This record gives sequence, structure tokens and C-alpha cells, in this order.
Amino acid sequence: MPTAKLRVAICGGGIGGLALAVALSKYSDIQVDVYEAAGQFKEIGAGVMMWERTWKILDQLGLSEDLSKAADTPPNGFPGIGFDFRRADRETGFQFHMYNPPYGCIRFHRAHFLDVFVNHLPSGVAHFGKRLLSYEDRHSNSQVILKFADGSQGTCDLLVGCDGLKSTVRKQMYDQAPFKEPTLKIVAEPIWSGWVTYRALVPADRVRQANGGKETRTTTTPMMYCGKSKHIVSYPIFQGRIVNVVGLVFYPEGEGKTFDGPWVTECDGAEVIKHYVGWEQEVQDLLRHVDKAMLWAVHSLRPLPMYTSGRVALLGDAAHAMTPHQGAGAGQAIEDAYILAALLGEPSITALNLWKALSAYESIRLPFANRVLRESAVSGKMYEFNSIFQDNYTSLGPAIDAQWSWLWESTPEEEVERALKRMRGLGVKHKL
Ligand SMILES: Cc1cc2nc3c(=O)[nH]c(=O)nc-3n(C[C@H](O)[C@H](O)[C@H](O)COP(=O)(O)OP(=O)(O)OC[C@H]3O[C@@H](n4cnc5c(N)ncnc54)[C@H](O)[C@@H]3O)c2cc1C
Ligand SMILES: *[C@@H]1O[C@H](CO)[C@@H](O)[C@H](O)[C@H]1NC(C)=O
Repeated sequence: MPTAKLRVAICGGGIGGLALAVALSKYSDIQVDVYEAAGQFKEIGAGVMMWERTWKILDQLGLSEDLSKAADTPPNGFPGIGFDFRRADRETGFQFHMYNPPYGCIRFHRAHFLDVFVNHLPSGVAHFGKRLLSYEDRHSNSQVILKFADGSQGTCDLLVGCDGLKSTVRKQMYDQAPFKEPTLKIVAEPIWSGWVTYRALVPADRVRQANGGKETRTTTTPMMYCGKSKHIVSYPIFQGRIVNVVGLVFYPEGEGKTFDGPWVTECDGAEVIKHYVGWEQEVQDLLRHVDKAMLWAVHSLRPLPMYTSGRVALLGDAAHAMTPHQGAGAGQAIEDAYILAALLGEPSITALNLWKALSAYESIRLPFANRVLRESAVSGKMYEFNSIFQDNYTSLGPAIDAQWSWLWESTPEEEVERALKRMRGLGVKHKL
């Protein structure tokens, strides 16, 4: 490698960190190091879904061929089922809405999805067992010193915190920010959304066998089973071998509070089933096969006022952890990565004028991702008949679709163009 114009340290190798590493790897003059706390890259045993918007970015990153093989059904460009919405909290359920966007709902097993990124990482960039404890943004010699739990140190020109919901980087950035308003520091703490979610994987063959060997809606279709203050998302992954099941229960008294207890535990199937007693038969026919589940208290961030400070930036859940109701958190992390890489990759950007790239990144990504974060929480209320539309299906259906309008109002390519234009318009002021 020629002498790097920029050394980027990525803290955290989840979907966001790996997307950034892959996106930056096409610039031979940028040195990339991924510091991951765990001993390997790993994802939880659950599904993840994407929309066309994210798929187009993944295609640009050169991942679509491998991801097509990993997807439940490779996207073919035609409209597909986004979600089939049913009123399900009664003996006889019924469809009240169908969301049919281009490409439909593109679905993966998380492990398979992450593997594709790992397989596209250049060799030598990954460092495991590196839990970042703190950083020092040294203005004197324009670099960032990284301090890890194993006692080692690293240096870089830019630190990108891709370290998730409980981000260490975000905490330090906000603790040290020269806010006049002290409450802004607290704004960076995660809050409980009021939802808990039961996440489970069900072998699809068991569902089929119980149905006389025939397919059912749950083995073929992304489903949204809606009830009052509860809902269940299910969709097949792994070429129809597994049904990903996500049961959600809303506790209004907990919204915005601190969750009391561990945020993730395990439970058995009986605990999941008890929340959906009296729901329609096809829900019972699915939940019966849940042996155990992960119980998550769903936390999110409030919309943050900054994603960058000095030579440090936040990306993915570290910047905008959101509720899962729009299937958008990972997609937004990937979009952050796509835009930040395009800005840093500009030949004119070096360690000395990095602030321009960071300023443009924040000005484009912060309002966008914060909007998705807000809309996602509202979507969750809609699915549970707790929005202003209540159970007026005539107005609720179109309102649910409209929540996703950010997917189509611009393309990621246009967002990159806007960001580059913003960056080029910045003067010579030296901010770092
Ligand atoms: C129930 C549920 C369902 C969801 N479904 C979807 C969906 O269908 N589609 C979608 O787009 N999104 C979905 N999301 C959101 C999505 O999972 C997240 O937005 C996404 O995984 C965030 O990726 P990330 O890389 O930013 O963070 P993470 O995946 O949290 O990765 C952070 C990484 O940083 C490492 N790390 C942490 N601290 C340190 C440290 N101090 N030093 C070094 N490394 C560190 C961690 O080990 C981890 O590898 C869902 C979320 C939930 C809760
Ligand atoms: C439901 O919404 C439609 C469309 O906004 C409206 O015309 C209708 O009056 C509403 N129905 C009820 C029962 O409120």
C-alpha cells in the first residue's frame, strides 16, 4: 500500500462497522482497521430484512451477487410482498392491509448476511479482542489515540464509533462535548421504548408437517399479525427452511423510562404463547413451534443533536439506534457507511481537512436517520392500533405505507451527490 492519506479506525464490527470497512476498502489510499471487542465477528440467531433502498447500496458495494445467494428469495426488481397485515387478536382474523413495494421484503439469516461482509473484507484489517475503553482526540498532533481494555493502544486520523446501542465512543463524545446545556449529555443515554420483543427461529418443516405437508402463510410470506398493544412479525429466511418470529408486547407505562433488569434474557415458548391467547389459529399454529426465545427490552436513542465531534464520528446504532418497526436500523447503518465512505474517498480529503467530510456526513445523515428513528416508533403504534388512526383500517393502511415514504423520496446515490456537493461548498476554515 502507498502511504495512506488517511487512517480510519472503526470501533465495532457489526453490520455498520463492516459495511464501512467494505465501502472504504475500494480506496487504496485509505488505511482501515476494525477493532472488535469480541473474539470474532458474530450476529445473533435471528433474521434481518432490508428494502430496495439498501439493496441498491449493497449492489454498489459489490455484495449483491453473494447476498442473492444468502437471501431467502433473491430480489428480482419486481414488486413483492413487503408485509401482509392482519388483524389477528381474535378467533377469526382478516387481512386489513398489504404493503407491496418494489423488491418486497428482502430477508436473511443474520449470520449469513454478516458472512458476506466478512468475506469481502481485505485481509489484515480485523483486530479481535479489542474493546475500546476510551480515546484521546489530540489536537496538538492531529491524531486520535485509542485505548483498549487489553492495555494496548492504537492511533488513527479518524475514529468511527460503530459500537452499537451502548456505544463507548458516543458516551465519551457527549461527556466531553462543550454543551452549554448540561441535559444534552443525558440525551445520549438509551431509553426503553416500552416494547419487549420475543425473538425465535422456528424450523419451517415443523410448521409444514403440522399443516399436512403443505406451505402456510408463515412459511412463504412476510407477515404482520396485529393486535391491540401487541403484534407479531414473522417471515421465512434461509430459502424457506426457517421462520423468523418476532413477538412484540407494548407496556405504555415503560415508554421513555429506564428498563429495570437485564435487557436480554432467554425464555421458553410457553411464555411467548401466553401473550397471544385467543389470537387467530395461524398464529397459534406458528407459536406452538417456538421452543425457546430471546427476550429483549427494546431500547432506542432519542434523536441525537450531533453525530460527529473533532476527529470522531458515530455510525449505525451508536448514532441512531431505533425501534425495529420499519426494518430499517441495519439499512440506515449501511447508508451511513455508504455516504461516509464516498466523502472520505474523495481525492481532495486528507487527514488535514477531514472536518469537511465529517461536517457533510453529519449534515446529510443526521436529519435523515433521525427522521427514520422517529417514524419507526410511530409505525409501531400504528401496527397496534394505538396511533391517531386507531382501528380505522381505511385510513390506517395508507398511513402505514406513508410512514415508509423516506424510502422513495430520494435514492442513496442522490444522497451521496448532495453530501459531496455540501462538502465541496465548504470553505477552507480549519475546524479540527
Ligand atoms: C428486534 C429487532 C429486530 C430488528 N430487525 C431489523 C431488520 O429487520 N432490519 C434492519 O435493517 N434492522 C433491524 N434491526 C436493527 C439492527 O439490528 C441494528 O440497527 C443493526 O444491527 C446495528 O448495527 P451496528 O453495527 O450499528 O451495531 P451492532 O450490531 O450492535 O454492532 C456493534 C459492534 O460493536 C462491538 N462493540 C461494542 N462495544 C465495543 C467497544 N467498546 N470496543 C470494540 N467493539 C465494541 C460489538 O461487539 C458489536 O460487534 C432490528 C433490531 C431489533 C432490536
Ligand atoms: C375512517 O377514515 C376514513 C378516511 O379518512 C373516513 O372517511 C371515515 O369517516 C373514518 N371512519 C370512522 C369510523 O371514523
